[in-house]
Amino acid sequence: MVLSVSFARRAISRAAAGIIIGVIVTAIVVGVGTYYATISRIHVPAPRTVTVTVTKPYTTTVTKTVAITTTATKAITKTMVSTSVKTTTTSVTSTVTPTTTSTVTTGLPKKITFYTWWAGLERFAIDALIHAFEQKYHITVIKTAVPGGAGVNAKFAILALIMAGKPPAAFQVHASAEQISYFMAAPQHTKSFVDLTNVAKEIGLYNTPAAIASMLSGHLYGLPVDLHRANLLFINIHVLKKYGLPIPRTLKQLVYDAMVLKKHGVPAFLQAGADQFTVAMLWTQLFLAVGGPKKYIEFMYGTLNPNDPAIKKATELFVNLSKTFPSNWMSLDWTSAVAALIKGEGAFVVDGDWVVGLIHDVYPKVVLSPIDNITKNTDIVVEPFPGTQGIYSLVIDCIMVPKGPEAKAGVLFAKFFASKQGQEIFNPLKGAITDYPNTPLNIYPTEAQKWEVKQYSTAKYYVYALIHGGLFDDVWQKFLQSSILLAQTGNTNLWYKMIDWAIHQEYKEWSASGMFMGSLQHPFAGYIPPWVKK
Ligand code: GAL
Repeated sequence: MVLSVSFARRAISRAAAGIIIGVIVTAIVVGVGTYYATISRIHVPAPRTVTVTVTKPYTTTVTKTVAITTTATKAITKTMVSTSVKTTTTSVTSTVTPTTTSTVTTGLPKKITFYTWWAGLERFAIDALIHAFEQKYHITVIKTAVPGGAGVNAKFAILALIMAGKPPAAFQVHASAEQISYFMAAPQHTKSFVDLTNVAKEIGLYNTPAAIASMLSGHLYGLPVDLHRANLLFINIHVLKKYGLPIPRTLKQLVYDAMVLKKHGVPAFLQAGADQFTVAMLWTQLFLAVGGPKKYIEFMYGTLNPNDPAIKKATELFVNLSKTFPSNWMSLDWTSAVAALIKGEGAFVVDGDWVVGLIHDVYPKVVLSPIDNITKNTDIVVEPFPGTQGIYSLVIDCIMVPKGPEAKAGVLFAKFFASKQGQEIFNPLKGAITDYPNTPLNIYPTEAQKWEVKQYSTAKYYVYALIHGGLFDDVWQKFLQSSILLAQTGNTNLWYKMIDWAIHQEYKEWSASGMFMGSLQHPFAGYIPPWVKK
């Protein structure tokens, strides 16, 4: 508890005071509903058409029309003015499971609050999901989006609410250690949250590999809603062609391409300093490539020797490659880095497959192709980060539900979101794949997602992404900040000190929790850490 209080204090002091006050006020304002409810099902006629107009933060405006028809086809028509790259009008159709019934809920709150960081240009999938939930249950979801990719701001806003005893009805969280950080901040540790294991059983999610990966010691405190991948490289093929460079399949080729581009004065890696996380991701992918999956998992649990040579090798490569960032890298966030990639202002972006969703939803004229299906008109290629082929670095978004007056409605929301129907609405637009292995391929609108389904099922190794839940929040934040400093200064001494601290801290926090990923029957990646009694 001493650990948790001091950790939480540090976390709060780091969160912007304005954001915290804002989110606490929002949470208090949201009405508290009756805890006990009865639910009855009625049928409503379809089709229905609903128009949602959303004003994005910053300077762009999006108008979205969502039409749900009896034939279970969801059509999303967007007219979008993007200040960053181009103006475009498109129509996207993806098939979703039919919604022919509406469920009336009595005794549940009419409104619930959901905390997330899916905002701005990555809001389409969550908005479609919330819309479907509201249609079905007639409960309004107040989406409180604290922008900042990977939860760079949202996590601390949620931590603050939990500590203040005013948690939202439900919130977005990654699988793994990140969830334990919330336990540490909560007054009653795991008991402050609804154990959703039985809900997962009800919706057929319990035994799927993604659900197992989302478990902590056999329990699901967060219901998984998607399956993303972190170890990806996005490549502007035109830039490589212009300089006669090959698509890099190995680390050696990647470094070669980057150095040639640098000589020509062309940025190679468009990693984003403003929201930090893709800079840290570059280091973790290099470490995965040189150290392999076992060491990567040992890093996560803090059981790795901090003097392992793979750390030094990855760091040297990182410092070298960070010299190829564009001069404005500190002002890029992950979405503007993708915009710059599309414009050809650099050759590579190391990021997760939420980039697939972003390109599909926002840049429909851009042709994104997986490495084994490049066509004549391909603009951007996606491939496993060189040296990590055959490894799937999972990123799983989950929904957690704090216990409290809104918990029943929160569980309803989490259950719908994680259900097959919910995931089939959400994931096509999100750029991810679902957690249900039997999902039909034709729900995915992009070749990249179909490729990922195959990559996932044929992967030789699975690891869980360090930057997306694998690290405890305090370690994660220091890791992110230090990776920026490392790229800015090249000072490896400070970095090695941080890595040493991070590995020890991971060990300390995991072993204090006594937890591990997966269950005793199915430990994640077959690894049982030493503090677990078999
Ligand atoms: C990750 C999250 C993804 C995507 C990405 C960019 O942390 O798991 O779903 O949202 O951040 O914000």
